[in-house]
Amino acid sequence: MTGSIYEAIGGQEKIDTLVDAFYAKVANHSELAPIFPVDLTETARKQKQFLTQFFGGPALYIEEHGHPMLRRRHMEFPITPSRKDAWLSCMKEALEEISIEEPYKSVMFERLTLTAQHMMNTPEEQK
Ligand code: HEM
Repeated sequence: MTGSIYEAIGGQEKIDTLVDAFYAKVANHSELAPIFPVDLTETARKQKQFLTQFFGGPALYIEEHGHPMLRRRHMEFPITPSRKDAWLSCMKEALEEISIEEPYKSVMFERLTLTAQHMMNTPEEQK
């Protein structure tokens, strides 16, 4: 694959659409909503910056916030295996909803899956 995924899928507009579709699902997810702020505007803004650079676009996140240190930034939130799965299922639905084509959809989902696994920091809660 030559060039960046960012460019191939349609640049900033497509990343923004993806992130908006994703947080609309997060806001309605019973396991995820409680650990996120009610107003997701700022969260979405940062995620747009992050995913832009994650998929090979301009380094917007680092320019404003410095090194991502993503695992560290997630430590205050209890990220259990089932929350990781929930996050990924919202992302999978969002990728499908906004019609990202193959092979990009699968490549993006694989990269996000690896990063999500790295973010788990809490064993499953007892039910
Ligand atoms: C921030 C949850 C995975 C990127 C956050 C926040 C929560 C959260 C609760 C704080 C929101 C706020 O206060 O505004 C989760 C959960 C995940 C997950 C449950 C499941 C594994 C990921 C992954 C990525 C990611 C895989 C990147 C590919 C970010 C970014 C921020 C963030 C960039 C903003 C950090 C900042 O404050 O600068 N996440 N996250 N997250 N998350 Fe995640």
